[in-house]
Amino acid sequence: MIRAVVRGFGASLPKRVMTNRELEDLVETSDEWIVQRTGIHQRYIAGEGETTASLGAAAAKAALDNAGLTASDIDLIICATSTPDNTFPATAVNIQNRLGIHHGFAFDVQAVCSGFVYAMATADLYIRGGMAKRVLVIGAETFSRILDWTDRTTCVLFGDGAGALVLEAAEGEGTTDDRGVLTSQLRSDGTHKEKLYVDGGPSTTGTVGHLRMEGREVFKHAVGMITDVIEAAFDATGTSADDIDWLVPHQANRRIIDGSAKKLGIPSEKVVITVDVHGNTSAASIPLALAVAAGDGRIKKGDLVMLEAMGGGFTWGAVLLRW
Ligand code: ACO
Repeated sequence: MIRAVVRGFGASLPKRVMTNRELEDLVETSDEWIVQRTGIHQRYIAGEGETTASLGAAAAKAALDNAGLTASDIDLIICATSTPDNTFPATAVNIQNRLGIHHGFAFDVQAVCSGFVYAMATADLYIRGGMAKRVLVIGAETFSRILDWTDRTTCVLFGDGAGALVLEAAEGEGTTDDRGVLTSQLRSDGTHKEKLYVDGGPSTTGTVGHLRMEGREVFKHAVGMITDVIEAAFDATGTSADDIDWLVPHQANRRIIDGSAKKLGIPSEKVVITVDVHGNTSAASIPLALAVAAGDGRIKKGDLVMLEAMGGGFTWGAVLLRW
């Protein structure tokens, strides 16, 4: 059986760090309020010349280095983003060009904060279907560019960045130690659109628009949706919370992460947290968190890792993989 196995990981963050204290000068807020409600202390904000594609390409290069590969080894690039450099061409094709390759194919996936989970599920199917051997799966965002910087209910929550994995086709039990993606569970429900959306777009206003969110409403749904989809991943694989080595959640809010882990019975020592330093980087948050926890040696080869996310749409999903 062919499996999509992680061969490398990488990340890229903008140069500029913005602290909560700096936000106190922009809107009526406080470091204390932001930390208490979200767990966020700082976020990275893209500056001049830094875009979703430039951050995504830098994360991709880091992942290729980590894998001991070059761009010429890649035959598919999937980029999860809701903040593309252009409406088209796809940011993934822009990244392909920045990597200097002209073979294979590349496309974007748009599922807001669940984008990386959707992209992993898609990459896994391309690999298991035999259409790709080595895939760069990237989550890259510059949410700072769609924020209303006068709206304190949203502008304090988000940040910019990119992370990437190299997934590789590996065949046969034993040769892979049963590593790779084990199951993907994806869901969406458009009835929740008004709770989290961008109020612009090429086909409606002809503008880029700004992010709008009913935070309390999102919060109300988040824990239930996340835990349902993780339970579905357990059921599909005959595993349970006790088997999990690491939960790597979408980093939106510390209270949502803690609430989900508690409901599932996953101890906090097994949960990777980066929302404190990255803020909510939407589709980039999971690969950024993976790069941190694999980079510092916490996530090791053979570990059972649960990825989960919930975001605008609503979209939500989970991917269970053996690292
Ligand atoms: N600073 C100070 N006060 C604030 C701020 C701020 N930045 N923002 C809101 N407030 C005020 C509100 O105006 C309100 O004041 P009021 O009581 O006088 O009306 C008070 O704080 C409480 O507001 P709530 O919205 O009820 O605060 P809550 O505890 O729900 O926390 C938060 C808000 C952090 C947004 C929370 O609801 C949340 O995390 N929701 C989920 C958001 C999320 O995860 N979104 C990302 C999804 S992923 C994606 O797809 C992008």
